[in-house]
Amino acid sequence: MRIAIDGPASSGKSSVGRLVAEALGIGFLDTGLLYRAITRRAIDLGWFTAPITAADVAGAIYEQVRRDLTELARTTDVQGSGLSFTMVVGDVTLADSQLEAADVELYVPAVASIASVRDALRAVQRNVASRGGSVLVGRDIGTVVLPDAECKIFLDATAEERARRRALQRGFAVGSSEHQAILTSLIARDAEDRARPVAPLVAAADAITIHTDQMALADVVQRVMAEARKVAR
Ligand code: C5P
Repeated sequence: MRIAIDGPASSGKSSVGRLVAEALGIGFLDTGLLYRAITRRAIDLGWFTAPITAADVAGAIYEQVRRDLTELARTTDVQGSGLSFTMVVGDVTLADSQLEAADVELYVPAVASIASVRDALRAVQRNVASRGGSVLVGRDIGTVVLPDAECKIFLDATAEERARRRALQRGFAVGSSEHQAILTSLIARDAEDRARPVAPLVAAADAITIHTDQMALADVVQRVMAEARKVAR
C-alpha cells in the first residue's frame, strides 16, 4: 500500500503520515526534507546572498545556480529505513534539526521550483516508495511522484490555524511576534509553491481532502486510516 499525503506548509502531514505508517507497519518519508537538505547545503556553501523567490530563480542570471543546485540534487539520497530516514547531500549528512531554520524556509520554494532538481529527487522518492508499503508526504506526491498511489489524501487547514499549531509546537505564545513571523512565512511559502509551473501544490483530482481546522490529530489519523482501509479491501 502506498499512501500519498499532500498539503500546504504545517498542515500536519508529517505527524499524521508518521502515525499512519507506524500503525500500518510500513515506511514513512517526509519528502520536504530532501528539498530542505539541498537548500541547507546551498546556504552553507554561500550560494545565496540575497532573498530569492521561485520567480527570480527562473531568470537567465540564475542559470549557473540552477545547474549547481541540480548537481547537488543528483548527489542527494536518504539513509535509513522504515520510519527513520536521514538526508545526505554528497558526503554531508544533515540532521533534521539543521533543516528547520528560518533561512531554509526562506529559500526552499525557489530551490523546489527548479524542474531539474525535482527530476533528480523524484527517483529517490520512488525508490523509497518501492520498498514495500510507504507513506510519502509532500506537495506533489499524489500528482507527480506517485500518481498511481492506492490512497491519496490532501490535508488542508486555514493559514491561521496552521500557524497557531506550529507556534505552539515550537513553544511560542499565540499572538507573539514569533507566531506572527510563522504566519507570514507560511503564507509566502504556500503562495510560491502553488504558483510554480512545475509540480505545484494542488490536490490530485482523485485525492480525498480533509479539512483539519476543527479536528484533533488522533481524529485525522483515524480518518486517513479509514480511507486506507477502504482501498485495501
Ligand atoms: O513539507 P515542508 O514544509 O518541509 O517542505 C519544504 C518545502 O519543500 C516546501 O515549501 C516546498 O517548496 C518543497 N516541497 C516540494 N515538494 C514536496 C515536498 C516539499 O516542492 N514533495
